[in-house]
Amino acid sequence: MTPNIKPLIAGNWKMHGAGGSLEVLKAAAEGFGEAAPAADGVICVPATLLDRASRVVEGTALQTGGQDCHAAEQGAHTGDVSAEMLADAGAAYVIVGHSERRADHGEGDATVAAKAKAAWRAGLTAIICIGETEAQRKAGETFTVLETQMAGSIPGGATASNTVIAYEPVWAIGTGLTPEISDIEAAHAHIRQHLKTQLGAEVADAMRLLYGGSVKPGNAESILSVDNVDGALIGGASLKAEDFLGIARAAG
Ligand code: 13P
Repeated sequence: MTPNIKPLIAGNWKMHGAGGSLEVLKAAAEGFGEAAPAADGVICVPATLLDRASRVVEGTALQTGGQDCHAAEQGAHTGDVSAEMLADAGAAYVIVGHSERRADHGEGDATVAAKAKAAWRAGLTAIICIGETEAQRKAGETFTVLETQMAGSIPGGATASNTVIAYEPVWAIGTGLTPEISDIEAAHAHIRQHLKTQLGAEVADAMRLLYGGSVKPGNAESILSVDNVDGALIGGASLKAEDFLGIARAAG
């Protein structure tokens, strides 16, 4: 973690959950303040649950977020959801540029940057995701991929309060595989360093850098103790309140 940065424990339910899952959210919300009194917490739920989820977490230390947004405020975009709609449904955060959206929907860096700006316009904090594929890692391209993604996906105007960066190696998502601790440390240090040149030291030094990819209660403590890791973005383990809270406890 980084001294003076309040960690963020973020869940991403992806395309999981219906009304019955609100019980899980309720348990996570009720336990979060005690599990991680020094951290912020958010669970990014499917858009269909957002309004109900936001009511469930009301009055607790946990907030809600969306998993994607359209760049426009409104318009003829069938099936899409704007950042303003997410905010109206109670969201405080929105994930943009998740690797699953980059892969499944062909979203490039410029689209991700436009979505991040839309998030800010609506008063949301953008969680901008970056990360290399397995092939890129094997080819030794990790740092150049991250640099390109940061340059293209993080718009000018990013601050430590409107933006969170999530480093999610694509090959570690949902696989049970995680990088070596030394690799996480090197990647996060590199991200911080690059952000200094892109956004200035003052912004970069205060920005939260999350690690995501197979974070579980069993590995959370070692991952969260790494320099420049200021929280986690959690997929599968956020679907169980006990596991989400187990990870949150490691953030203190
Ligand atoms: P898992 O924690 O299931 O590996 O997912 C990580 C992720 O993609 C969070 O956005």
